[in-house]
Amino acid sequence: MPLVTSKEMLKKAYEGGYAVGAFNVNNMEIIQGITEAAREVNAPLILQVSAGARKYAKHTYLMKLIEAAIEDTDLPVCVHLDHGESFEICKACIDGGFTSVMIDGSKYPFEENIRLTKQVVDYAHERGVVVEGELGRLAGIEDDINVSDKDAAFTDPDQVQEFVERTGVDSLAIAIGTSHGAFKFKGKPRLRFDILEEIEKKIPGFPIVLHGASSVLPEYVETINKYGGKIPGAQGVPEDMLRKAASMAVCKINIDSDLRLAMTAAVRKHLAQNPEDFDPRKYLSPARQAIKEIVKHKLVNVLGCNDKI
Ligand code: G3H
Ligand code: 13P
Ligand code: ZN
Repeated sequence: MPLVTSKEMLKKAYEGGYAVGAFNVNNMEIIQGITEAAREVNAPLILQVSAGARKYAKHTYLMKLIEAAIEDTDLPVCVHLDHGESFEICKACIDGGFTSVMIDGSKYPFEENIRLTKQVVDYAHERGVVVEGELGRLAGIEDDINVSDKDAAFTDPDQVQEFVERTGVDSLAIAIGTSHGAFKFKGKPRLRFDILEEIEKKIPGFPIVLHGASSVLPEYVETINKYGGKIPGAQGVPEDMLRKAASMAVCKINIDSDLRLAMTAAVRKHLAQNPEDFDPRKYLSPARQAIKEIVKHKLVNVLGCNDKI
């Protein structure tokens, strides 16, 4: 099975009232955990690579590992650049075999966001690659960029149609109250489903993307802290809200922090219980297993994309 774009996956997800999972990958164990989970439940997959992941593992290693995972599982997989900051990084990923890129122009004024996004779309579409744009601004931390709560802004439904038409993007990331990282809400979790509904009315049938969608499950935070970690009381997006979003226009849901927490909890627990271990295979096996379990849970119980191949 060759790499695929997310075009067909997201169209089917829209029609079927579910969402495809987009999980961040940084190394072999993460790629194996995710793809093995998807294989077991027959789910299409988007594996996404951030600029930080490319810096950490190198583009070539990640591509080859993903190719190996496809050979091993025969899954339809889309390889996607997460939060592309510039035309140059998008171009490098398109030239380097990715089937999808995100150009995140959300920090720019509307006209500049359109100009940059269209530049990427023109280059990508000529080469059969799809593009995700972003309108609105999520709070939180990505790579070294820290967006404070006061700089965050919900997506304006009155801008989406013009943005989609003028740029030609294939999907659109929006801001309706989620944020990146493990600390998402100060008070009660709240997503602006009213904004999502408005957006859907403006661009019916168009696939929407939700970033910052980790749920920060207490069991992982508790395990990390029990075995020497120090993560203050975190709060994620409740899973029932994600299910609701997936039944609406949201077709791609980005999850990274939950996998980091699951992996870290497994490593901490293993090392605390086996202090004599220094073989990385001994503590990375439970880490990979933990990734597999959390991803399976997301695919089946949250996103509803199992048995959709
Ligand atoms: O949205 C950001 C993702 O969690 C990737 O994080 O930029 O630290 O690799 P990263
Ligand atoms: P989380 O930090 O909530 O996992 O969000 C990940 C994300 O949006 C990647 O683009
Ligand atoms: Zn994101």
